[in-house]
Amino acid sequence: MAIVPIKGNWWNAPVERTEALWIGIALVWAIIMFFMMPYWHMVGNQNLSTEAYKVTPDAYEAKVDAFVEKYQVREEGDTGIPVVKPPAGGDVYLLARQFEWYPIVELEKGQNYRIHVSSMDVQHGLSIQPANINIQVHPYYEMIFNATPTDAGEYGIVCNEYCDIGHHTMLGKLYVK
Ligand code: CUA
Repeated sequence: MAIVPIKGNWWNAPVERTEALWIGIALVWAIIMFFMMPYWHMVGNQNLSTEAYKVTPDAYEAKVDAFVEKYQVREEGDTGIPVVKPPAGGDVYLLARQFEWYPIVELEKGQNYRIHVSSMDVQHGLSIQPANINIQVHPYYEMIFNATPTDAGEYGIVCNEYCDIGHHTMLGKLYVK
């Protein structure tokens, strides 16, 4: 036995005119914004082109260790975090883990780099401040994007995906010289 409300089912009632108007406006706006995504990608320097490959945390960590061993130029801070200066135009390996970005990288202004990033544990967010770079970092995926630093200076790397109790302390650094 079906229970039918006294005034009938709401989905059979005619849509009120103003409501239909707003549904129409929202639909048109959603379609516009859908096409703005590729548009901004082409003309607005937004929405990075990324590549993604499957990788285990162990295999990725081995790549990062090899990168650090090969190109480390000094250490920084109390914990002795390595500062790594890869050759201009080369590959850069960044690793995210609770709750640090590793290592510190030093890049050359005007050179294009292929930046790799992956996570050792949970999802993190790579946000390079104040540049407009912001990508999600997942374990088991190696994300790669191309970037050419245009301004010299010290950049902050902020984690912008909540990754547990120390999330707010997950800060890294990147130098452009
Ligand atoms: Cu890592 Cu939040």
